[in-house]
Amino acid sequence: TEKPTALIMIFGATGDLANRKLFPSLYNLFEKGKLDKFAVVGVARRSLSNEEFQLRVKESVKENGETEADIEEFVSKFYYHSHDVTDSSSYLALGKLAEELDSHYGLNGNRIFYLAMAPEFFGTIAEHLKKDKLTDVAGFKRLVIEKPFGHDLESAKVLNKQIRKAFSEDEIYRIDHYLGKEMVQNIEVIRFANAMFEPLWNNRYISNIQVTSSETLGVEERGRYYEKSGALRDMVQNHMLQMVSLLAMEPPIKLTTDEIRSEKVRVFRALRPVKGEEVNEYFVRGQYDKGSMNETDVPAYRQEEMVNPESNTETFVAGRLMIDNFRWAGVPFYIRTGKRMKAKSTKIVIQFKDIPMDLYYQPEKTVNPNLLVIHIQPEEGITLHLNAKKSGQGTDATPVKLNYANKGIDGLNTPEAYEKLLFDSLRGDATNFTHWDEVALSWSFVDNISAVWENTKEPSFPNYASGSMGPDAADKLLEKDGFFWWPIT
Ligand code: BG6
Repeated sequence: TEKPTALIMIFGATGDLANRKLFPSLYNLFEKGKLDKFAVVGVARRSLSNEEFQLRVKESVKENGETEADIEEFVSKFYYHSHDVTDSSSYLALGKLAEELDSHYGLNGNRIFYLAMAPEFFGTIAEHLKKDKLTDVAGFKRLVIEKPFGHDLESAKVLNKQIRKAFSEDEIYRIDHYLGKEMVQNIEVIRFANAMFEPLWNNRYISNIQVTSSETLGVEERGRYYEKSGALRDMVQNHMLQMVSLLAMEPPIKLTTDEIRSEKVRVFRALRPVKGEEVNEYFVRGQYDKGSMNETDVPAYRQEEMVNPESNTETFVAGRLMIDNFRWAGVPFYIRTGKRMKAKSTKIVIQFKDIPMDLYYQPEKTVNPNLLVIHIQPEEGITLHLNAKKSGQGTDATPVKLNYANKGIDGLNTPEAYEKLLFDSLRGDATNFTHWDEVALSWSFVDNISAVWENTKEPSFPNYASGSMGPDAADKLLEKDGFFWWPIT
């Protein structure tokens, strides 16, 4: 593939995301020789000289691992612009700098505007970019925009309207960093490149699917944001529903951006709404209490910084989703995510139906159902749980596991999600970014749930100990259907 050339403007260049993810990812792309000509303008409020900014970039790259001798050459392409997001003259100055860099580096008028900052300014910035002519370019112009994309459907619509004034839908790259994860991208390949899975991938052979994304960290310094968000908006509206859509989608007729995204949209359209009284029947909310993690005591959510001591915000969500189409009728998709849980782990378990008759039945010992486990993180790989003969005399069946560890085979460390997504935005591939229709449909799904939760205080909060797997009600949710959560560790 051709190597991309562009001017990359990072709004929020002094922030955490830029430091932890964007600079190191750009460095990796540079170091692997994947970029042609490029320059970066860091944009943020505080005043910094180019040299001071370059030093910060260097530090960020160093903290993220070994650096090679070419780090000086890399940071020499970084410039800084101290910016006021509401002031046209600041945009005009930025535009002038952009033009100079464009001609100095020969960047063909290609521009990426990466918004990695407080979401309340996304709309304003997009409007100014157009009004102050930063989007008048000879090459491509693309907007890469971090989450959260709105707070609910209404605010997402407003934001979308604002950014659509300056960018068309195919110039907008809405980040969901889960879509950059190696094993999330692998879901489609596992499904569509294997004769053994796709024929079974439906309600005749699958009994239920379980998607867990658990974290050990608490809310850390993000109390102010999280109080207004909670796990439902922070994780379910985006990452969890995205994984569900990849698991449930029909095979696309081609692997193009449009075809893949429209199949995902159809899943969202088939998602059965959960509203009113059904919310507390099919969804469970949790909030972490104090507890012990790795032998250290950690505080309850309500004791965290910037958190209301009587907070009603959920730090855990479990839910049962139903997809009303021919393929999935009757198959529950269970999702579960939370902070301060027992382990940091993202896993998908596909549980196949029981065989028609168990020849190997013994009291208290039935054969295990077949499971396909997709390990998203920290390990990357797949495990297939089968049954085989116990060696020795007799015909007893015993569970065996076939394991594939992604890293073990490929040798190399798989690139970070952000590295892949940045590269995709540079080369113009929007497949692993969320289309507006996906965003809108997932907000309508989630809004029904927030409507109930925000208006009723959960008296049991805090209802799970830090270091546990969440509230008991999350187990009950599956028990009602005759299932249980397969252990994730
Ligand atoms: C982010 C959420 O989108 O995803 C965070 O805002 C969460 O609250 C994070 O911690 C989890 O991402 P990962 O890649 O560590 O699973």
